[in-house]
Amino acid sequence: MYPETMIAPAVEKTTGIFHPAPLATLRPDSGAMFELYLCMPVRWGHRYILYKAADLEFTEKKRLELLENGVKTLYVREEDAGVYYEYVDRTIGQVLASEHIPPQEKSRVLYETSQSLVKSTFERPDSPLLLSTNQKVVTRTVSAIAGEPAMLRTMVSLFAFDYSLYTHSVHVSVIGSGLLLETGDYRNEDIRDIAMGYLLHDIGKSRVPSEIVRKPGLLSPWEIKQMEQHPDHGVGLMQHQEVIRPQAIEVIRTHHELMDGTGYPRHLTGTSIPLETRICSVADVFDALTSHRVYKPALTGYQACRQMLDRMSNKLDDEILHLLIHRLGPNAKRAVG
Ligand SMILES: [Fe+2]
Ligand SMILES: [Fe+2]
Repeated sequence: MYPETMIAPAVEKTTGIFHPAPLATLRPDSGAMFELYLCMPVRWGHRYILYKAADLEFTEKKRLELLENGVKTLYVREEDAGVYYEYVDRTIGQVLASEHIPPQEKSRVLYETSQSLVKSTFERPDSPLLLSTNQKVVTRTVSAIAGEPAMLRTMVSLFAFDYSLYTHSVHVSVIGSGLLLETGDYRNEDIRDIAMGYLLHDIGKSRVPSEIVRKPGLLSPWEIKQMEQHPDHGVGLMQHQEVIRPQAIEVIRTHHELMDGTGYPRHLTGTSIPLETRICSVADVFDALTSHRVYKPALTGYQACRQMLDRMSNKLDDEILHLLIHRLGPNAKRAVG
């Protein structure tokens, strides 16, 4: 499957615990001084093979070679995971601080890295290291949006139209953070803590059978019951993780409750649903409507807001909905004006 030249001279075949290191998180020539492995399918499962030794640089040539061969993810050994996650945070810091990198590119790096980290987190929701790296990236995203209001629109303009659970999680966290900032009632640290709940609001879906989560079209009553357990599964997965604060747990627990009591699992109503959750619901519905699914085309931002105003005004917080319309404005790709 992989050409011989792609494998470093000292080939090491090994098994053990590995963390995914998506290419989107590896910037060429930026000091990725840790071993990187390829995951190779074999008859009895898969095997990890050394691709890059720790003392070799990860170059643009290597990156392109991997992409040409359809490889989107390399892996790091458990022992190197700490070094790798520190590298991810450091690299983003350097990108954001650089005067030579345009805002569009900065947003792209933040977006792609967040997405990759969320994907890894869905695979390993029990990793405190991964969660604290997510938190660092969320902190950087919140400061970027708070420091430069145009950044929110730039990020939204990059959002993928095709729905995936991972991009959806990042979209909800970015839009939700922008709305929290817009209220003017939250400090950046609080926004960071709440945004972790937005990022991981659907993490409980990692405990629902994937045939149900991925099923296009209508679910059977039994499947709906399984799916409706994902908020509580999410709480179970996250409640003992140190970086996940109580506000984030509340968001995960209540993110499918609706103002008119028709939500689940507790049928809460009105302001008994926390404001942070009402913000999450608006971002969640907006992203779902503006994403393309196999069974429905994506609505434009305008159509989505119209539909939310016309058909969901008793289910969503009206003030938050107007805040969204005001905040995203007419120029974003998912423009609402
Ligand atoms: Fe959900
Ligand atoms: Fe969601």
